[in-house]
Parts: sequence; structure tokens; C-alpha cells
Amino acid sequence: MKALAYHKFGGTDVLQIVEEPKPSIQSNQVLVKVKAVSINPMDWKIRKGEMKLMSGSTFPKHIGVDFAGIIEEAGTSSFTKGDEVFGVVKNSMKDGALAEYVAVSSTSVWKKPAAINFVQAASIPIVGAAAIAVLDKIGNLNADTQVLVNGATGGFGMFLLQLLKQKEVNITAVAGTNALAFAKEWGADSVLDYKKEDVLAGKKAYDIVVDLSGKMGYTNAKQIM
Ligand SMILES: NC(=O)c1ccc[n+]([C@@H]2O[C@H](COP(=O)([O-])OP(=O)(O)OC[C@H]3O[C@@H](n4cnc5c(N)ncnc54)[C@H](OP(=O)(O)O)[C@@H]3O)[C@@H](O)[C@H]2O)c1
Repeated sequence: MKALAYHKFGGTDVLQIVEEPKPSIQSNQVLVKVKAVSINPMDWKIRKGEMKLMSGSTFPKHIGVDFAGIIEEAGTSSFTKGDEVFGVVKNSMKDGALAEYVAVSSTSVWKKPAAINFVQAASIPIVGAAAIAVLDKIGNLNADTQVLVNGATGGFGMFLLQLLKQKEVNITAVAGTNALAFAKEWGADSVLDYKKEDVLAGKKAYDIVVDLSGKMGYTNAKQIM
């Protein structure tokens, strides 16, 4: 099968399409024919060697964690061949979903809801789970809670805004000019354009600041909390 792999850390030029054996499954695994893959910041951070402490420096490495596809071999699981699923690869630091097939534990895939397509399903796992984890850590929220989400319209923010909205908190979303409408659609009560305004220069204070841009930093965030 064809897969995307790399043998040294670097830019996108290190990526190569390689021929590899189709994976064979262990008893607790399923084989999925990949139809769609999403790319997350962690994919390029690992590729550039920015997460060496976690990824180690052994090669080849593959790329892509989230995928959606069709069950090809169900093993001993409750899935059947042909089921439409989405999921995550086993070892995100080494394995890759950018391949024709992936072998993964049957507990790392879920049935794809019929209402969404493969591309939509592949965009869910990493950012969806991260948004839920943030919400769990934030704890008690109510209608008076002022939350600022900086970098609110990437993959993570798309889920976090909608989950925060369900909690009926007051959300200020910071996004780029072209994404402000999305922020409103996903639940922001007010929006700031980071290309035109400096959120740190504003007078407003927030109970919670979630920085998904990776550019604000804790010391800056503290100033507006
Ligand atoms: N720990 C975990 O489990 C986990 C899971 C998922 C993600 N993450 C991390 O969470 C972060 C966000 O992930 P993501 O998937 O949402 O990334 P993303 O899709 O790249 O979103 C980042 C957003 O930040 C915006 N941005 C860029 N510069 C900004 C600035 N100066 N001020 C405000 N916003 C700015 C970008 O807007 P433009 O489109 O205008 O550039 C973009 O919408 C990443 O660092 C990622 O590694 C962690």
C-alpha cells in the first residue's frame, strides 16, 4: 500500500510517498481502508522535531492521527466489514493515518454518524477530545462567566466554542478577519479581530482565558484575567 513517511525531521520536503506492506491485524484490532484524514498542529510539530521528548528520534515516522474510513477486516470486534468509522492511530508519535490502510485497536474507532461525511468525521477526534478535556478542567461555569478564546476558529476552537455555548457562558472569540462570522455562528457573543486589534490592550477582564493560538503566553493572559 502507499503511505506518507519521513526519515528525518524537517519541513514538508522530508515527506515521501512510500510503498509498505498492508498492515495485518492482531486479535483486538480492525483494519480500516482510509477515506479521509485531518491534519493537526501536532502533525507538523512532530515532523519538525519540536516534540522530540515525546516522539523520540527513531525513523521512519508517519503522519496524520485522525482518520475516517471503511472497516476492511473486523477481527473479533463487534464491527462488520463495510462499517463506516472514524478514529485515531495507535501511536500518534510514530504511526500515520496518511496511508491506504490503518490497523488500530477496535476501541480507537467509532461508528461514523450517517449525517456526516468522511471528511467531517476525520476532523473530529483530536480536537473534539481536547475541547471536552478543556471543558472538564474549567469546572463550574455559569451565565456570568466571561470566557476569552484566543485563536477561536481553528479545529479546536470550532468545538470549544460550541461546547461553551451549551454552558451558556459569555464568550469573546479572537479570530482573523475572514473567520469572525464562523466564531459568531459557533456561539461567540462578541468577536475581536486579532489582525486589527490587540486583545491585551482592551479594558475588559475575563474569568477564563483559553489560548489556542499558542502566541499569547501565560504572563500576557494573566493581565486580562
Ligand atoms: N493537547 C492536546 O490534546 C491538543 C489537541 C489539539 C490541539 N492542541 C493544540 O491547540 C492549539 C490549537 O489547535 P488547532 O487544531 O485549533 O490549531 P489551528 O487550527 O491551527 O488554530 C489556531 C488558530 O489560531 C489563530 N491565530 C493565529 N495567530 C493568532 C494570533 N496572533 N492571535 C489570535 N489567534 C491567532 C489561527 O487563525 P488564522 O487562521 O487566522 O491563522 C487559527 O484559527 C495548537 O497549539 C495545538 O497543538 C492540543
